Amino acid sequence: MNNLVHIDSQSPQPELIERAATILRGGGLVAFPTETVYGLGALALNLKAIHKIFLAKERPDWDPLIVHVGDVAMARSLMKGAPASFEALAHQFWPGPLTFVVDKADHVPGEVTAHRPTVALRMPWHPVATALLKATGAPIAAPSANRFGRPSPTRAEHVLEDLANRVDLILDAGPTPMGVESTVLDLTQSPPVILRPGGVPREDLEKAIGEVPLASAVEGEIARAGLAGPGMSLKHYAPRARVELLDGDPNKTVIALKRRVEELKREGKTFYILANYGDQRLYAQTLFDQMRDADSRQADVILAIMPPGRGLGLAVRDRLLRAAGSPAAPAAQKTNHE
Ligand code: TXA
Ligand code: MG
Repeated sequence: MNNLVHIDSQSPQPELIERAATILRGGGLVAFPTETVYGLGALALNLKAIHKIFLAKERPDWDPLIVHVGDVAMARSLMKGAPASFEALAHQFWPGPLTFVVDKADHVPGEVTAHRPTVALRMPWHPVATALLKATGAPIAAPSANRFGRPSPTRAEHVLEDLANRVDLILDAGPTPMGVESTVLDLTQSPPVILRPGGVPREDLEKAIGEVPLASAVEGEIARAGLAGPGMSLKHYAPRARVELLDGDPNKTVIALKRRVEELKREGKTFYILANYGDQRLYAQTLFDQMRDADSRQADVILAIMPPGRGLGLAVRDRLLRAAGSPAAPAAQKTNHE
């Protein structure tokens, strides 16, 4: 366990940052907090280091990585020409939980981008992440620090659970403030398309640039879409327990929930009801932690009431749908929130 060190989330200790940066420069793996979830970091332009990420996560090589940058200039150096909307969007939303998919510069290794002509770039605001990027002075590839298909880690304990001795150092700064991953926005399409709803709400993007469609595999069509694209695989962010979703009119979902609880009791099944706190920010913040908690209590079934698809609710809905591996709400009617 001595590969885990506690670090101050607001004023990270320089000696710990330097220790982490040294590991990265040597081609090692460092798990670090971002404002969304913990990332599994390695030097983005170092092939051996990138390979270690895929091995540690047991991530299939068709799933491309997000590259984290310390500033806009570093982002520009990794892309081929900047798309029209990049400067304004970066100015407004960076640093923050927004990832841009753009045409990649030639020197960005195909291993990072799953041999796509595009690269995903994000500038985080978490003080530990920004300090690490500054100390390293180089782009850091970092997918979420979980084993492939498992819920993303929002606490260092989750990273230990999934990756333990597969990572050289874990910087533990406590729970991550947002709890769901960044919004992934494809700037190679016009208008830009949301490939994954996340920490920056769709409404905020639309205020800035007008209508922003969701990729068709997101939300409603998720089941039929199956393996439509990277990050869109159906069973993902998944706990071991079966996830059942209740959607629609709040009064009806509560009745449906009670009925389902009675059924499960009769069947002798153990269940875990996700708290939604009636607050999308808290729901997002605790979602993955609750899924892991349900697993550690060996619940057979997780019952989750779907939030409305506004604000962070859209990201929560997306993660719940993927965790369930099905868009169906067993008991209540689905609202047409989109
Ligand atoms: O909040 C986050 O984004 C976190 C923190 C650590 O920054 N990272 C994260 O990375 O969630 P990951 O690898 O778990 O998810 C990255 C998503 C995947 O769905 C991946 O397929 C998609 O971004 N992606 C990466 N590069 C892409 C590309 N070139 N085109 C389309 N999608 C891409
Ligand atoms: Mg992930």
